Amino acid sequence: MTGPLTTSEIREKYLSFFESKGHLRLPSHSTIAPDPTTLFTVAGMQPFKPQFMGAPAVFPGYGESRRVTTAQKCVRVGDIENVGRTRRHLSLFEMMGNFSFGDYFKREAIAWAWEFLTGSEWLGLDPARMYVTIYEDDDEAFRYWTQEIGLPESHIHRFGADENFWPADAPLKGPNGPCGPCSEIYYDRGPAYGDDTWADYARTRESARFLEVWNLVFPQYDRQDPRPDGTPVLADLPFKNIDTGMGLERVASVVQDVPDFYSNDVFKPIIDRVAELSGQPYEGEVSVSHRVVAEHLRSVSMILADGVAFSNTGRGYTTRKIMRRAIRHGYLLGFREPTLYQLVSLVVQTMGEAYPELGAEQSRVEAAIRGEEERFLKTLEGGMQRLSGLLAELEKGATLPGEAAFLLYDTYGFPLDLTKEIAEEYGISVDEAGYAESLERAQETARAASKYGKAELFGAGQEALEGLPPTQFVGYDTLTAEGEVLALVGAGERLPHLRAGSEATVVLSRTPFYAEGGGEVGDTGVLEWPGGRGVVRDTRKTPAGIWLHDVFVEEGELKPGQTVRGVVSSGRRAIERHHTATHLLHAALRAVLGSGVRQAGSLVAADRLRFDFTHGAPLSDEETAQVETLVSRWVSANFPVTWQEMPLAEAKAAGATALFGEKYGETVRVVRVEGGVPFGNGTVTSMELCGGAHVTRTGDIGAFVIVSDENVAAGVRRIEALAGEAATTWVRERLNNVARVAGLLNTSVDGLEGRVSGLQAQLKAAQQETAQVRRQLAEAQMGGGRAPQLRELGGFRVAALRLSGIEGNELRGAADKLLDQSGADLAVIASDRGLVVKATKNAVARGAHAGQLVGKLAAAGGGKGGGRPDLAQAGIGNPQAALEALDTAF
Ligand code: ALA
Repeated sequence: MTGPLTTSEIREKYLSFFESKGHLRLPSHSTIAPDPTTLFTVAGMQPFKPQFMGAPAVFPGYGESRRVTTAQKCVRVGDIENVGRTRRHLSLFEMMGNFSFGDYFKREAIAWAWEFLTGSEWLGLDPARMYVTIYEDDDEAFRYWTQEIGLPESHIHRFGADENFWPADAPLKGPNGPCGPCSEIYYDRGPAYGDDTWADYARTRESARFLEVWNLVFPQYDRQDPRPDGTPVLADLPFKNIDTGMGLERVASVVQDVPDFYSNDVFKPIIDRVAELSGQPYEGEVSVSHRVVAEHLRSVSMILADGVAFSNTGRGYTTRKIMRRAIRHGYLLGFREPTLYQLVSLVVQTMGEAYPELGAEQSRVEAAIRGEEERFLKTLEGGMQRLSGLLAELEKGATLPGEAAFLLYDTYGFPLDLTKEIAEEYGISVDEAGYAESLERAQETARAASKYGKAELFGAGQEALEGLPPTQFVGYDTLTAEGEVLALVGAGERLPHLRAGSEATVVLSRTPFYAEGGGEVGDTGVLEWPGGRGVVRDTRKTPAGIWLHDVFVEEGELKPGQTVRGVVSSGRRAIERHHTATHLLHAALRAVLGSGVRQAGSLVAADRLRFDFTHGAPLSDEETAQVETLVSRWVSANFPVTWQEMPLAEAKAAGATALFGEKYGETVRVVRVEGGVPFGNGTVTSMELCGGAHVTRTGDIGAFVIVSDENVAAGVRRIEALAGEAATTWVRERLNNVARVAGLLNTSVDGLEGRVSGLQAQLKAAQQETAQVRRQLAEAQMGGGRAPQLRELGGFRVAALRLSGIEGNELRGAADKLLDQSGADLAVIASDRGLVVKATKNAVARGAHAGQLVGKLAAAGGGKGGGRPDLAQAGIGNPQAALEALDTAF
């Protein structure tokens, strides 16, 4: 007896089931949202909004189809604080979906969901445990559920738009765009999970027992801005669509019959490892921390693998928040050194097959997580010292003031839970009400500051910056420079000083630090002054040209008027390499793919570059090679790279590439590579308007390699590439990998292709042979053509036979044969692996029903099943009992 289906098997079954219903299987979209309505991809339908709205259903590289199916990795962070505390919330989950763009509609969506959930070949869940909800006036869905599926009315409940519309409440609250009523399918996990009933659920909308597993959405409306009087506006979409989402983790826990998804085959290995590394068993209150660590590691790994980096803004900031929550819970489990990065390999093990980007990015992801752990553990350590100091001054039985607990949180990111737990060890309690008050006050200040835009991220409000001159930036030519501290700003106010252990925004008269802009990340580094030192964590600038350095003071005290020496981290050299390489990549892409290529965004960092551009198809191997060759020609030519300020008109006349849609001032900076490289019949050159930092000669780039090319939006592709050491390290890792694989297959790297095709051919032959042997086994057991005795049942002649070791196709083949040999109306074949009933056309016309017979026989054999009148099958425990039941079947 084989075990229950694994998560991977369920995922594969889902996709192949819908392939068998004519769907095109597409890969998951990145966790980075395809449109700006959300930071992360939140639903399987999100990449297909254009198709719902009428765009052509063409998927470059995959084909054209109005029916598609995907496993989509989704990230929802709205209720992140519940993740781990409950066992029902996840920040990353896989949504299985089937979609129709004006093709099939409700009837098929309902029938197929039912077939997949209950069919014995698929998930084989008990139909009697299924419940559904529908939208209040959706009589059509009601009819299909009751009349075609046969669901009892008592298993159906109607809700309003807050439950049975997707997005929920869209008519009243938006967002604008495709939406429609939905029908949700629930599975009754049984009395072990609660003694409530379906009627209770309909009243309370909460149940541990009735678990939603699948949402069938019928998007037929385009929600638009409501009328001035507030009336909702739902325009018809060009056609009716289907969007479904089946939660893979939930379904896996149902199929595997485990209490929640933290016990399924994807999470359990990670949880077990957390227990092993920490020496804390997964039980009791501390188990919250096991869950937080396991869950967050999974989502952070996936997000980082998709190209997001930890940062202080946007997506990178949210990712940092998730990671830091995991690190704090790791701290609660006793981790004092970077440890969590070790779990990445388990995420790769459990999910890497379905999402290959995880394996490809493993070492980068591990390094990023490890770095974040190092940084944040230091902060936590600082908080610990401060807290121990505070506690040592208090008597046993005393209370730590809420304000002090809040300052620990605010300055060191030291969470209340941790403070409480440690204080408890000293016999001291924490004034939680006081903490909440301080938190509220701080949130109000932050809300008030948020109207100042970006500067708020550094605690700098516009008013605090008033009267300051623009900063003199000298960082194109040097990485160290002295400047005077003009202002220290925290929480929107000027600060008189900044002491060791605190963090604020520092404004200097002169700086070598590049401020984030033009796709290039802000510089990091240190500030030094006599008796003191601070770490520059990020650099930005205001539209007025004031540079904002995010500084954490490690030693000494910083005051306005102090002269400091700024030293930019050597990582800047790697950033420069990637920036010049980005320009060369841009020029090479235009040469190879044509001048239709336009830059649509970029990211230039120390560890990689990312370049988005308009183009409709993936690069062929040859195009990729041509682009790389062009860039390396520039590199080996070692041309000077120069920059110069000039009037915009002059720059345009000289042919500098400007970015479409970008606003430029009167004077612009032009970055030029002083030399072209041959391509086709011409020469390719690079001259761009750009404010970024660059190498002085192209040879400084060293190596260059394109590591990925993917679709990010309709007609927009994203290339990731590496320069310098990042490139050589990456290539070396890949080469080692390939060599290892060749070693596993007992061949050389050159022999790899031949070996793999050889193995594939062998596998195919072996599969054919197995099928052949099964067929022979079936034939041999069918007694060399001697027909079995016929029974007379309800006016039909039935031939029945018991076989062993036969399944699937062969079982059905045997049923065909038996019908032929015996001349019966119905053939029944029972084996230890299944039960098949087949009826002749003639018999069906006279009212025979294979599906009904199978249901009865299966029940007698301890199984369940059903199917069409002419062909049906089931899984059973006891084939003999099923056959014996034949006599009483009709
Ligand atoms: N888009 C639907 C959901 O996310 C399927 O629930």
